[in-house]
This record gives sequence, structure tokens and C-alpha cells, in this order.
Amino acid sequence: MDSSSHGPRAVPWHLFPDGAGVDSRGELLIHGLSVTELAQEMATPLFVYDEQQIRSRFQEAKKNFSGKIAYAAKAFFCKAMAEIVADEEIHLDAASMGEIYVALSGGVDPSKIVFHGNNKSLTELRFAVEQKVGLIVVDSFDEIERLEKLATFPLRVGVRITPGIEAHTHEFIRTGQDDSKFGFNVQNGDAATAISMLSRSPKFDMIAVHAHIGSQIFSLSSFRQEVEVLSTFLAGVEVEDVILGGGLGVAYLRDERAPSIKEWVQVIDDAGRRSGLSKGRSLVIEPGRSIVATAGLTLYEVGTIKRIPGVRDYISVDGGMSDNPRPVLYGSGYEALAAKRLFDSHDTRFSVAGKHCESGDVVVRDAKLPSDISVGELIVTPVTGAYGFSMSSNYNKVTRPAVIFVDQSGYRVVVRRETLEDLVRNDI
Ligand code: LLP
Repeated sequence: MDSSSHGPRAVPWHLFPDGAGVDSRGELLIHGLSVTELAQEMATPLFVYDEQQIRSRFQEAKKNFSGKIAYAAKAFFCKAMAEIVADEEIHLDAASMGEIYVALSGGVDPSKIVFHGNNKSLTELRFAVEQKVGLIVVDSFDEIERLEKLATFPLRVGVRITPGIEAHTHEFIRTGQDDSKFGFNVQNGDAATAISMLSRSPKFDMIAVHAHIGSQIFSLSSFRQEVEVLSTFLAGVEVEDVILGGGLGVAYLRDERAPSIKEWVQVIDDAGRRSGLSKGRSLVIEPGRSIVATAGLTLYEVGTIKRIPGVRDYISVDGGMSDNPRPVLYGSGYEALAAKRLFDSHDTRFSVAGKHCESGDVVVRDAKLPSDISVGELIVTPVTGAYGFSMSSNYNKVTRPAVIFVDQSGYRVVVRRETLEDLVRNDI
């Protein structure tokens, strides 16, 4: 065991929210509140967000970027999150009528909403128009026909294009390549056709072009390439906004390091200037994960421990694929730590399993935890703030956890834990 395998230096602090701390025995604190206290008052599993960190990520983006920032609601959304978006004067990327509804419920200015989706229904489009959503990003020729059926014209629209960039990330969350269900293809001429159709029609104000190359991308050169490709493609095309999507990756594992938001936006700004893309146009970015992932963590309680000598030791926690489907969907890795004793040596391999009826329901396949981890202990999985709660389900009729926001003044419940009644609320 090396000297850094326990103690304060062994804790992967870069995976924890800015407001995380620790008491003298190694118990995790969030803005001074102990996880024991939070778990006792709120029960587990529990999503805990550092509200201050969410705000400071928005501020970091605003301060360092010359263009506009639209938060991608899909990463994590609820009324309280919409209120932060409104308060920080951020635009919003909504991908469904539901996301628009929640945004409006939280006071987001409809003119700041960008509406995306490869299959927006007529009902959704009508809702967006009635609510005076700022921009609809058209994704297909069918959608153009659908939009023409709506009464209010001219409509402010953008065109989503697939620029043919293969970003280095999981194939399910890659979107910029030619083989994609999203947007109009640049290579085969569809993108140019859609742009000219929309710009010529009196029914539309074609003010934006949009591309998104994928998610959980670490290499900033992919974004530079995106800007360059768009700059060539848009030579001579007049638009107010060029929306570059989101996609900045975050570190999930102890040994991972990701670029900061500041580094990301500076690369985009720089590439925009050099290539001429930002000349006379505003660049817009749509970060989701990089705003909320590290701000959030999940607290679980250990329920059972099963040791299979020579094979594997399992600890099962009180949540799993219903609150974090990412390991099952994408094989995503997380760290798990003993939340009340972060300084103890985490040197023994366990699989942290969920409570669902599938063998694949694993939260962390090869976690390193204290060898004497015991039933009733609190486990924390950091970096669960993005695409965890937002992709949660009621699988096995497990109720969704509560979400709390913490800052210097204490914590507040922003989404209450589901109850058993919630499980039959829609049943007739
Ligand atoms: N803009 C558009 C048009 C998008 O489709 C997305 C994500 C974003 C922005 C935000 O990307 P971000 O900054 O969060 O990478 N469920 C997957 C991620 C799917 C991302 C879908 N689109 C996951 O858990 O990894």
C-alpha cells in the first residue's frame, strides 16, 4: 500500500463539488452539512447538488465566452434548476414540450428558449409557437411541412446540420457524423437545400444554424474542427446565431482530467475568430453535463454484502439503474467511496450493485472501498449530477429519490422523494 492510498490526499477531490469538505474523521460535508445528517433527514438514495457550483459554472461560461450560453435541460432539470437558469440569465436548450413546460414553470423567458428534437410533433410545435419560444431548430424536411401548418408567421427558425465530424466518444452519444438520425446532412446537400428553402420562404425567419457533435468529449480539437467545418459551410450564408451544441466531457474517475469550461469556451472563441465564423454572427454553446455533473452526487446506503471467495465481493445499495442508468446504458464508470470515512484506505475491490432484478444492475463494477465496509454504511458516488436524475425511472416500481440543493445557508428540497401513491397516480 503506498502512502497516498489513505488520508486527505487520497480523496479524488476533483470529482466532488466545490462546496465539499470533510471533518476531522473523514466524513464528507457539503457546505458544512454532514452526509449523516442529510441521510438521516432525507433518507437514501439522495441526489445532493451544490447549488453554488451550478451557478459558478454558468458564471465561468458567461465571463469567458463572447457568445451566448444555452443550458441543455436534458442533463438535469426541475423547477429549481429552471429558476437558476432564469436568474443567471442563461438561454435554454429544450428537447421536448415537457422541458419547455418546466422551463416556463421556473420563470425562464420563452424568448430565451431554443427548441430541439428530431421528431417534434405538431402538438409540440404548436405549443412552442403559442408560448413564443425564441427559436425552433428545424431537424427534418417533414418538420418544415409541419411548421407550415401553423398559423403564426414568420417563425424564427434555425437549421440543424450534421457536419460529418466523428467525435471521440461513445457511439450512442455521438451525433455529428453522417450516419445520424439528427439534422440535415452536409455531405449530401440536404443542409444547403434546407437552408435555402427556409430562407426563401416568407413563413420563416431563418436566423440560426445548429450543430452538435456529441457528448462527453475530452478533446478540444473536435470542437475546433467543428467551428472550422461550419465556417467553410456557412461562407456567404447570413445568420444571426451559430449554435455549436454542448458536449464538453467531465472527469468521472479518479485518474481522469477534463478541460475546464473556461478552456473549452476559449478554444471555441479563438477558432471562431480565426476562421471568421463569428464575424457578424453570435456563437452559442449548449453545455449540459459540464454545468451540472460534478455539482451533483448520490448518497446510497449499503443493504447487503455478499462475498464469493475467489470470484467477487458485492455490496448492494438501495438504488441502482433506476436512479443512474448510465453504467448499464453506456458502460460508464464511476467511483464509489465510503462517505463517512473518506480518509480510510480504499483498497479492496467490491462491485457496487443496485437493488433491481437484473444482474446487469451495477453502479460501479470495480469499486475500491475499505475492506471492512459494512451494512448500513453510506456510500457516495460523485459526478452523478448529469443524466442521472434526468434519466431515472420507476423500474421495479422503485420510487425516485429526492433532490436537494445545498449552499452556505443550508439545504432545500427541490424535488421530493416519490411516494407509493405516486406509483399508481396515473393508473385508471
Ligand atoms: N445540445 C444538443 C443538441 C444535445 O443533443 C445535447 C446532448 C447537448 C446540447 C448537451 O450536451 P452535453 O453538454 O451535456 O454533453 N445521456 C447521455 C448524454 C446524451 C446527450 C444528448 N445530447 C449520457 O448520459 O452520457
